Amino acid sequence: MISPILSVPRDGPAPGAPALVDALENGAVLVFPDLDFPLDAFEQRFVERPFADGKAKNVNIRGAAATLKGAAGSPEEQERLRQVLIRYRTFAQALVDRYLPAYTGKVSLAGTSYRPFDVDRRKLSWRRDDTRLHVDAFPSNPIGEKRILRIFRNINPSGQPRLWRVGEDFASMAEKFVPKLPGYSPLSARLLAALRITKAKRSEYDHLMLHLHDALKQDMAYQASAPQADVRFTPGQTWVTFSDLVMHGAMGGQYMLEQTAYLPVAAQADPERSPQRILARTLGRPLQ
Ligand SMILES: [Fe+2]
Repeated sequence: MISPILSVPRDGPAPGAPALVDALENGAVLVFPDLDFPLDAFEQRFVERPFADGKAKNVNIRGAAATLKGAAGSPEEQERLRQVLIRYRTFAQALVDRYLPAYTGKVSLAGTSYRPFDVDRRKLSWRRDDTRLHVDAFPSNPIGEKRILRIFRNINPSGQPRLWRVGEDFASMAEKFVPKLPGYSPLSARLLAALRITKAKRSEYDHLMLHLHDALKQDMAYQASAPQADVRFTPGQTWVTFSDLVMHGAMGGQYMLEQTAYLPVAAQADPERSPQRILARTLGRPLQ
């Protein structure tokens, strides 16, 4: 089954429509076509040219202090860009509270990013090439028993859509790839943490997700022939998905905002639908 795209009007789903949390946990992408996030006259410049130092892929704020990283521009411009990101973080929290109230108080917001570069123009190594279908995994930041929920918004000023591909459901993908992955070594996971290559000890889940991410991106036959569908997110649209569960590739588009949030597996409506539990079922045993 290919991940479904579910459009959600501003007033919320129609009576009788599937509950949004259920749809999300089953691997849907929720699209909100008409939520407001206006940029003022000063802020328009942030979608006219990239205010980025070009060293990192994105500009972002982190933590309670909302320290800005990777930005370019005058001190005033950088402060205003930081304010846009803080406002977007508030917008994302409000979206969760309004449309996913079951997660309120359980979701924790992490980084907020401004992505000013055209996807196509940045030719990266295969591992960092996000045009290839993948699920998200963070090499240096073990996730353990958390889920990655992401809230994206296309802020392109000239009508350019954000183009994605979405792929097949996680369980079908895992059946094909998990048997090929190298086994987990708790010893080397401890070593990586001791050497501070990872910020915490990599669990078996993190190990599997990193190797899945790489195996998927390296398999060009799978990339070309796996079940998939093209999706267009037009400017002004906001979309929300579990990016650790939904196979996706970013094929094009420029100027986007993104909020990453973490949700404990135990806080899901149904933890059995997490990639953690799906991988355990694929292996036929609990993960270490
Ligand atoms: Fe991704």
